[in-house]
Amino acid sequence: MLIDILTIFPDIFSKALDQSLLGKAKEKKLIGVRIINIRDFAEDKHHTVDDTPFGGGGGMVMKLEPLCRALDSLWKDEESPQTSMILTTPRGERFSQEKAKELSLKERLIIICGHYKGTDERLKMLYPVEEISIGDYVLTGGELPALVIIDAVVRLIPGVLGDFESAQTDSFFEGILGPPEYTRPAEFRGLKVPEVLLSGDHERIKKWRRKEALKKTLHKRPDLLNWERLSDEEREWIKEIEKERG
Ligand code: ADE
Repeated sequence: MLIDILTIFPDIFSKALDQSLLGKAKEKKLIGVRIINIRDFAEDKHHTVDDTPFGGGGGMVMKLEPLCRALDSLWKDEESPQTSMILTTPRGERFSQEKAKELSLKERLIIICGHYKGTDERLKMLYPVEEISIGDYVLTGGELPALVIIDAVVRLIPGVLGDFESAQTDSFFEGILGPPEYTRPAEFRGLKVPEVLLSGDHERIKKWRRKEALKKTLHKRPDLLNWERLSDEEREWIKEIEKERG
């Protein structure tokens, strides 16, 4: 996957993308990343990338000319289902694991890091941009959201995670939160790991994990539970868990 990032703060990305799994994915050539400084495409002396909004009001708006010049330098009208162009903005569609999965199948991502009060609305009429928000809060810029999206997407590309099973038991992978996890020692300050996890009985462990995941979801994110997608046995578990809670 080729990822182009258009930003006015390129330094934010250089270190972050070289660490951990993202760094390894780059090393293994599973992803290529290009960081494009939008300011380099501003033609005035001060490399201006923003301006005051028409109609008045406070704040600044990201200008079209430098941004479009930057986009034209790397995108040749190749509107392809294999490419997604994203603008990070709190006004966008909410990012989700589902969206991460969809984007992980693309060959190319072009991510524009939004800034200031917003980006000139005509950008959407010129390029097939999807506006994405990472949550209902406002950050100082679209760089951290871009990193969040890249991280969530890249770890789903086959070969990036050493252990693909790990991604399959992630929270949200099946639309619910993941089960609790434990590691050595089996007892710490008097606290024991649930016996079933030490039993070696894979069937029992699988069932226990699913039940605990449902319990966690029911307690913390009941909005995620989709009754239709549960088996009869799982519906019985939910009834039991609810009864236990009283
Ligand atoms: N820019 C500022 N806040 C944002 C958010 N929540 N999501 C995406 N981009 C943003």
